[in-house]
Amino acid sequence: MPSSAVAKIHTVDKNGQEITTVGFQRFGFDSEVPLDVLRSLYLRAHYVVTAKSGEESSEQEEQHARFTQGASELYQSKSIYHADTQSISYTTLSRFPPVKLLPSDKRKRILVTGGAGFVGSHLVDRLMLLGHEVTVLDNFFTGSKTTVSHWVGHPNFELVRHDVVEPFMIECDQIYHLACPASPPHYQYNAVKTIKTSFMGTLNMLGLAKRTKARFLISSTSEVYGDPEVHPQNEDYWGHVNPIGPRACYDEGKRVAETLTYGFQRQDGVDVRVARIFNTFGPRMNPYDGRVVSNFIIQALRGEDMTVYGDGTQTRSFQYIHDLVDGLIALMNSDETRPVNLGNGDEFTIGEFAEVVRDIVEKVQEEDGQKPAKRVKIVYKPIPMDDPQKRRPDTTRAKETLQWQPKWTVRMGLEEMVRYYKAKMAEGSL
Ligand SMILES: NC(=O)c1ccc[n+]([C@@H]2O[C@H](COP(=O)([O-])OP(=O)(O)OC[C@H]3O[C@@H](n4cnc5c(N)ncnc54)[C@H](O)[C@@H]3O)[C@@H](O)[C@H]2O)c1
Repeated sequence: MPSSAVAKIHTVDKNGQEITTVGFQRFGFDSEVPLDVLRSLYLRAHYVVTAKSGEESSEQEEQHARFTQGASELYQSKSIYHADTQSISYTTLSRFPPVKLLPSDKRKRILVTGGAGFVGSHLVDRLMLLGHEVTVLDNFFTGSKTTVSHWVGHPNFELVRHDVVEPFMIECDQIYHLACPASPPHYQYNAVKTIKTSFMGTLNMLGLAKRTKARFLISSTSEVYGDPEVHPQNEDYWGHVNPIGPRACYDEGKRVAETLTYGFQRQDGVDVRVARIFNTFGPRMNPYDGRVVSNFIIQALRGEDMTVYGDGTQTRSFQYIHDLVDGLIALMNSDETRPVNLGNGDEFTIGEFAEVVRDIVEKVQEEDGQKPAKRVKIVYKPIPMDDPQKRRPDTTRAKETLQWQPKWTVRMGLEEMVRYYKAKMAEGSL
């Protein structure tokens, strides 16, 4: 697949090897795409170099003109096939990034609920670039049309405003069921609605999977382990959840969603996958949703004090979004029907993490010739109720059954995310 011209950001993995692609060939499903193509979809013009005009050869233009016989060509779509890489670029009135041209037996009809959210939109980018037909179902409660607007109009893409609490009919082969607010201020905003989304939304999507015989994957969460008594947490741990606390609408919602999922598997033979996702971060995360990574970056970029809740000794592990998308796709296409943890085991105390974020923000500012006059301060505030002290995934199962493990270091991920927020600030949208 040809790659677009994007300003070079040198990205290396945990072993110091340069990362140029994301995804891999596994279980007969190829999820690999060039990183610079993917990056061009979320890093803004500030960092994106415009592709040279005339790069699409004039010969192709001429061929198209002949085909459309001149007059109305401006109003007609044209598609350019790249024989060498077996990919196709579709154009309506705007041009889309080239997507793979898959034979019909390999091209899947994929429904992504919550596809306009943070995780969903990155999954959608990947599935689109891989050449599948993708339908996004979203009520835009926490997601935004802008996260997937670059695909609107593409013949392989459909965006539907719909609340999963209501039934939905469509023909599809795979369902990634992600719809659910994920950050505490959002899911606590209307706790009853969060439980309805978790229960009724999952019930509706499982019903759809049953009718269409689609494979169903639910994005569950490490919150099903609550404030855990064992470290790290493996999938056999049943959890330690407060059923009536302020986080219960989400934690218990996801637990009952898992129960429903396995109920449909046992009773109706629905083909299910359960991903237990640990803290994930990356571009397109809502900067105001109170999650620690975005809080720290925005505060540091603005030169404000960085707020740590508690004494900073509570630990967290953070995985980068591209690793999570690799894991979700691998799980969907594998035979593993048990729950699978997807997370990065590199553990930081929140206090340490604040320092890493501050370092990376300073590094990026320095590279851009904008070194601030003084360092931002890290300040400590009281910890919210039920905030788990420690959380770290045991990802042995994912390693053994999916041959998946995170490639991205937290530092590399943070650097991309800092550039993303910085560019958003530069264009005035943040
Ligand atoms: N981001 C993480 O660190 C993380 C960790 C664990 C689990 N997860 C899970 O992954 C999924 C996606 O999380 P995210 O971080 O992208 O959150 P997000 O809030 O960015 O995305 C959720 C999406 O679901 C949509 N949505 C919410 N309620 C809906 C409803 N009733 N009907 C239709 N659409 C609805 C929202 O508008 C949004 O687009 C969630 O299920 C979440 O529980 C995320």
